Amino acid sequence: MSGNPINPSVVDPVVEAALAAIAATLDIASLRAARGATVGEQSEISKLNATLKNMPNEFKAEAGALIGAARGRLNQAFAAREAELAAVEEQAKLVAEAVDVTAAPTKLAIGGRHPLSLLMDQISDVFVGMGWEIAEGPEVESEWFNFDALNFDADHPARAMQDTFFVDPVESHLVLRTHTSPVQVRSLLERELPVYVLCPGRVFRTDELDATHTPVFHQVEGLAIDKGLTMADLRGTLEHFARIMFGPEAQIRLRPSFFPFTEPSAELDVWHPNAKGGARWVEWGGCGMVNPNVLKAAGIDPEVYQGFAFGMGIERTLMFRNGVLDMHDMVESDIRFSQQFGVSL
Ligand code: DAH
Repeated sequence: MSGNPINPSVVDPVVEAALAAIAATLDIASLRAARGATVGEQSEISKLNATLKNMPNEFKAEAGALIGAARGRLNQAFAAREAELAAVEEQAKLVAEAVDVTAAPTKLAIGGRHPLSLLMDQISDVFVGMGWEIAEGPEVESEWFNFDALNFDADHPARAMQDTFFVDPVESHLVLRTHTSPVQVRSLLERELPVYVLCPGRVFRTDELDATHTPVFHQVEGLAIDKGLTMADLRGTLEHFARIMFGPEAQIRLRPSFFPFTEPSAELDVWHPNAKGGARWVEWGGCGMVNPNVLKAAGIDPEVYQGFAFGMGIERTLMFRNGVLDMHDMVESDIRFSQQFGVSL
C-alpha cells in the first residue's frame, strides 16, 4: 500500500545499521553491551515499533509485518553472533589451556655434592678398605693441640710457617686449626692402641684467595701407631694410596724435610702418569715417622710404640689430579664446575 510512512526505505537502513553494529562486536561482552542499542528497548527498531500504535489503521498491518520481520532478523543475527563469539572464545580457551604432552620436562636442580667432598669420601674409602678408622677434631682448636703437643716450641720458627688465625681473646689460647695434625694427638688420647686413623677436614690460614690459595681449605691426615712400624710401612701405604688416586703407574718419592712432629720427616712427591701436559713429579704432601715427643705428649711409650703420619691438601690434590687451574672454581660453587665431576643434580 503506497503512502505508508513505515516502509522498507525506512526500516532497511535501521536493520542494516543494527546488523553492522552486531557484526562489529569482537567478543561476547561487547555484544551483550550492544544488546539495548541493536535489539533492545532503546533500539531504533523498537522505537519504530512504538510508533505503530498511533498509526492510521490502514497502515498498521503492513508496517507491523515489516517491523516484525525486521526484529526477527535482528534477533536471529544477535543469537547467531552470540553463538559464533562463544565458539571463538571457547576455542581460545582450549588453546590457552592446552598441555603439550611432548614438551621436555623442566628438571628441578636440588643441588649436588661438591667435588672436594667427593674426593674426601673417595680417599676415606681407600683407608677404610685397609681397616683404618675415620677421626674428627674441632676446627676451633686449642693452641696446645695445634702446636705444642705436636712439638712446636713456643718460639719455634715452624710456628711462623703457618699463618694462624687466633681467636679472641688471645688468653683463650684458641686458634682456627692450621692443619689436621692436631687430630693425631686427639686420636692418641682418645683411642686404644694400635691406632690407624684418617682425618679429612677443614683448615684455616691467613692467606688471601687467589689462583692457588684460599684461607679455608681441606687436608687429609693419616696416622698409624703400632708396634714395629717402620718407614717401609709408610712408603707402602702411600704408594697404595697414590696408585688408587692417580692410576697403577703412579709412583712416590720421599725427599728429606723437616716437621716438628715427625722424625725423620719427608716431602712426598707423586709421579702423576696422567698429569695435564704429560707425566711428571708433583709435590703432594708431608710425612714422616711420628716424633717420640708427640707420643710422649699423648702418654705413649715411644720405646714400645712407633708410627708414621702423613698429610696433604685436598684442594691441591683435586687441582693436579683433575687439571683444575684456578682455586676460585673450587670456592665459587658454580654448579657447572661440579657437573664436570659427574655430580648428579
Ligand atoms: N701438617 C702439615 C702441614 O699442614 C702436613 C704434614 C706433614 C702432616 C707431615 C703430617 C706429616 O702428618 O707427617 O703442612
